[in-house]
Amino acid sequence: MTSTDGVPAGAGRHHSGTARHLLTLADLTAADLDRLVERGCAIAAEVRAGDPALAGILRGRVAGVYFTRTSTRTRTAFSSAALRLGAGLIAYGPGDLQLNTGETIEDTGRVLSGMLDVLVVRTAGPVAEMAALAAQRRMAVVNAMSAEEHPTQALADLTTLRARFGALPGLRVLYVGEGNNTATALSLALTRYPGTELHLRTPPGYGLPPATALKAKEYGAASGALLVERHDMAQLPQRVDAVYTTRWQTTGTTKPDPDWRAAFAPFQVNETLMDRYPDALFLHDLPAHRGEEVTAGVLDGPRSVAFEQAENKLYSAMAVLERAAGGDRW
Ligand code: CP
Repeated sequence: MTSTDGVPAGAGRHHSGTARHLLTLADLTAADLDRLVERGCAIAAEVRAGDPALAGILRGRVAGVYFTRTSTRTRTAFSSAALRLGAGLIAYGPGDLQLNTGETIEDTGRVLSGMLDVLVVRTAGPVAEMAALAAQRRMAVVNAMSAEEHPTQALADLTTLRARFGALPGLRVLYVGEGNNTATALSLALTRYPGTELHLRTPPGYGLPPATALKAKEYGAASGALLVERHDMAQLPQRVDAVYTTRWQTTGTTKPDPDWRAAFAPFQVNETLMDRYPDALFLHDLPAHRGEEVTAGVLDGPRSVAFEQAENKLYSAMAVLERAAGGDRW
């Protein structure tokens, strides 16, 4: 089938003629973001109820999963999501594609776009690499973590908060740790919701990238959300609904400063910090290093929703694939 503009109508194509990529949360309007979160919550209920309709949503579609870096949650979530929605699945490891022998990223994207409806990608490189894969109009490309941003993590995080609190507007979150790709995505997502507060406490020299902070503050100015970042643990907010941390050694990165641990030490989430907020939940994107960024007592304690958050990666991945691969609902 060929569309009126002469481009074969791949299933990932939106009616506007562009594929529904998710390279950064900045690709989404606030309404799109909220639809994905709400759909993730609805899919969680449908999976738990054993709704057979799910298996027909992407029947006849094919998803590719291309990860050049380690992953337990995200790769499994997207693979399981594709299979549960009825799509076929092709997995590529870091050594599989002719990218390794010099084929260009653009040519790779163009070739795969004739065969796949969606490609889910994790690399340690910049989003620009994924944008090169997305420089075609048939196959949707999903960022499953890049150097700068981990957008599908934020979708799972918001799905978790939405499921736990019933609504996202007005929520107050304290993020403690590196201003890494998870923090970037959380900042670009939470600030879309009116009345939210995101308080970041990041070690000196390991804060949010300035462009991220600027963009998130722009979102906050439009929505009525607040983003505050400090590089110490002073003047903590009086009340928060959730405390969030990530591991100190972000996947695929190293820290040139041999003394980086000294900078991070004051930023551990432990019982003393959690005792300030007796009603707050604890979130962690995992994997965790108990005794570093979080104590075992907090991670494994009754207020931790870290493993629920991990499970929600499946439901939010299903929502992302449904949107990206042309599910009728979108
Ligand atoms: N949180 C997260 O992205 O986990 P994985 O690295 O295991 O995918």
